[in-house]
Amino acid sequence: ANQTFHSDGVIRMWPPGCAMFAEYRNHADRVRHLTVRKDDVWILTYPKSGTTWTQEMAWLLINNLDYETARKIPQTERSPYLELGCLVDEDTRRKANIADSVRAVEMLQSPRCIKSHLPLQLLPKQLWTVRPKIIYVARDVKDVAASYYHHYRLFFGYTGSCEDFVEAFLAEIVPYGSVWDHILDFWNIRHESNVMFNTFEEMKKDLPRVVQRTADFLDCTLTSEQMKRLCEHLSFESMKENRSVSHEDEMAKLRGKETNLVGKIEPFMRKGEVGGWKNDVTPQLEERLNVYTEGKLAGVGYELKYQE
Ligand code: A3P
Repeated sequence: ANQTFHSDGVIRMWPPGCAMFAEYRNHADRVRHLTVRKDDVWILTYPKSGTTWTQEMAWLLINNLDYETARKIPQTERSPYLELGCLVDEDTRRKANIADSVRAVEMLQSPRCIKSHLPLQLLPKQLWTVRPKIIYVARDVKDVAASYYHHYRLFFGYTGSCEDFVEAFLAEIVPYGSVWDHILDFWNIRHESNVMFNTFEEMKKDLPRVVQRTADFLDCTLTSEQMKRLCEHLSFESMKENRSVSHEDEMAKLRGKETNLVGKIEPFMRKGEVGGWKNDVTPQLEERLNVYTEGKLAGVGYELKYQE
């Protein structure tokens, strides 16, 4: 697919490989040539897979569990979203007060904790030569689809049906394109020594285990007390109340603008559940998602079970 589905119904073209916001083509080279640092930590995900959650875990681990700074400085500043400023044109950027995110990454002090949803082929080339630590997070694609639908309503004012959204998701014409191509590209490099492959489902099932594995990966040691506090900080309830990570302030701005959506849109920290897709996805769509997944996984050996 080389088209992008957009909330206003416009289809935007992108060169083969990935559906993306049209504006991105003006920034792609700059991102490809970004200088990568060896002590960076890159959090890479398809949207809605547990990015914010993982960023918070990784940022705290590489910053000596500095909860004070984590509370005081918004996560979007501590751990910038690399391509955010590359998604919309300059006019929109100015109006929405979106900074030059690539510059923000360039200016950030080491060790940097960088977020990106870009698929492997659009990421900075130096990732594969400098080889900083990369944490990839995958999530059950049905939950991704449902969460992305709500994200579209929240951030882009999408008023179409969930069904239409999922159709676009299956046609791989939503921004960032194919969820399975994204996941599998990183699944294929999961054994590289600088890559860790986590799942949302494991974080839900056994957060301390994922935190321990991530701490080992990042060369951090944790006492049992520190582990306990970190897991509390990372709980859904705590993150939902934490304005540094909840995106509440951005949402308040959006709510101010889109008064017709007040009460109808769910917050960024929405449900944080495994299997929550059942509330939005009809049995017919579920079947279509199953067929899609089976087609993508045929012969691939992707073994991670989502639900017990
Ligand atoms: P839902 O929309 O299913 O609730 P991302 O950060 O990649 O955009 O992912 C957002 C999803 O992660 C949302 O899923 C959000 O609720 C969930 N999430 C964020 N923090 C979480 C936490 N601490 N525990 C569980 N889920 C969390």
